[in-house]
Amino acid sequence: MPAELTTDLNRAAEFLKQGKLVAFATETVYGLGANALETHAVARVFAAKQRPFFDPLIVHLSAAEELNTVVENVPKIARQLIDRFWPGPLTLVLPKKEIVPDLVTAGLPGVAVRVPDHPQARELIRRSGVPVAAPSANPFGRISPTTAEHVLQHLANEIDLVLDGGPCRIGVESTVLQIVPEGPPILLRPGGLTREAIETEIGPIRLLEGSGNESASQTAPGQLPKHYAPQKKLIIAEDWSHIPAEMRIGVLTFTWNCLQVPEQFGHVETLSATGDLNEAASNFFAALRRLDDNQDLDVIYATPFPSRGLGLALNDRLARAAR
Ligand code: TXA
Ligand code: MG
Repeated sequence: MPAELTTDLNRAAEFLKQGKLVAFATETVYGLGANALETHAVARVFAAKQRPFFDPLIVHLSAAEELNTVVENVPKIARQLIDRFWPGPLTLVLPKKEIVPDLVTAGLPGVAVRVPDHPQARELIRRSGVPVAAPSANPFGRISPTTAEHVLQHLANEIDLVLDGGPCRIGVESTVLQIVPEGPPILLRPGGLTREAIETEIGPIRLLEGSGNESASQTAPGQLPKHYAPQKKLIIAEDWSHIPAEMRIGVLTFTWNCLQVPEQFGHVETLSATGDLNEAASNFFAALRRLDDNQDLDVIYATPFPSRGLGLALNDRLARAAR
């Protein structure tokens, strides 16, 4: 039976309690949720996404007060970040409690946790009465969903219910920060909370060396070089020379003036006419999907983003989509 599409919070919460799979909206992207404390339910998440077991899941809570159900302790710097940025697009990796199944953390000693800034998501988790493990609700390695329709497009037959919460406000996944015993936190994944905002609060953080390459993917599971990928080939273009004339090309561009787009391109997606990175992020995955689904195109050319604010996360997603 294909997944039910509903706005009924109680029904969705009931499904989670029963160990079923419920996709739900957050402020970043749609998540594919299951009771984090039930190994069977979590295993179904991996199966539905065809996700390898070495890639751990984020545990979602309805409030920071629930942290002590899943983490051993909250270091001072984590407390400071939580007070400032939760609910919001910041995921913290903290020492896990025994009760969290190894399947959730891929056997790692740390569990990734966050409180989403979407009232419906928090209410869903609260009513379910359990912490909710949720990766993005897309087949492994593919484009992340920012609407209920995106989820149904690829996972309708693998999951039980989609709770429609409208389009996602931010549009890129949360920033993942590892809290370590000594020294500043490590940025495992740039995301919806900017590096600038974090550093204004706690000072310099550490970046993963060689982020995006094979060795980085071992320290940061899930940071695989190829990810967020369209079916079509995606090329990051700094200019339009050397473009094969026989190809039908779609273009993903940040704003109007960043490039003069030649006329041979039929389908151009401009992410923000005014050059607003937040607006660009909220349109990013949906635009990439439209280009990917357009049967009249052979290849997608994308222009890079300025590397400030959400541009860091967007360039990270582009680089992985291009592999
Ligand atoms: O915005 C988001 O974070 C969305 C929404 C649904 O909350 N979720 C999401 O989940 O993007 P996912 O599974 O697509 O990405 C989670 C990332 C992966 O790169 C994973 O490797 C990392 O977080 N991660 C999860 N648990 C971890 C852990 N225990 N240690 C280190 N990294 C972890
Ligand atoms: Mg994902």
